[in-house]
Amino acid sequence: MLDPRMEQAINEQINREMWSGYIYLSMATWFDDLGLKGFSHWMRVQHKEEETHSLMMLGYVSEAGGRVLLAPIAAVDTEWSSPLAAFQEVLEHELKVSAWISELVDLALELKDHSTNAFLQWFVTEQVEEVSTAKGLVDTLKFVDGNPHSVLMLDRELGARAFTLPAPAAALGVL
Ligand code: FEO
Repeated sequence: MLDPRMEQAINEQINREMWSGYIYLSMATWFDDLGLKGFSHWMRVQHKEEETHSLMMLGYVSEAGGRVLLAPIAAVDTEWSSPLAAFQEVLEHELKVSAWISELVDLALELKDHSTNAFLQWFVTEQVEEVSTAKGLVDTLKFVDGNPHSVLMLDRELGARAFTLPAPAAALGVL
C-alpha cells in the first residue's frame, strides 16, 4: 500500500504532467498560427509525452494500491514573443519538473518506499534528456537569431520528431 503522503505527492505530479502537456499543446497551436508546422508537430509530440508521463504515474498509483484523484488543470499562456521565448519557457519548465521529480524521490527515500523509488528512477533519467533537448534547442534558436531561412530549416527538422512509447508505459498498460 502507498503511504498517504506519497499517494498525495504523486497525485500532484499527475496533475503537473497533464499541465505540462497542456502548456506544450498551447505552444503547438501558437506555432500552427505562425505557419511553423514543424515546430507545432514537435510540441504535439511533447504534449503526448507529458500525457504519457501522467498516465504512467496514474497506472503506478493504481497498481500500488493507491487512489488516483484528478484535479483541475491550471490555465496556460497562449502567446509568446518569439520561438526562442517559447523554448526558453520549455527549458525553465523542464528544470522545474526535474526539481519536482527529485522531491518525489526524496520523499520515497524518507518513507523507505523502495518500489516508488524504483518507479521514479525512469523519470529521473528522462528529465536529464528533456532538459538537455530543451537547452539544445534554446542554444540553436539563439544562434539562428531569427534568420527566416534558418528557422524554416529548423522547422523541417523538428517536423521529423517521432513519438516513442516508453517501455514502462507499455508494461503498466496505461495506453
Ligand atoms: Fe514529464 Fe517534460 O516532464
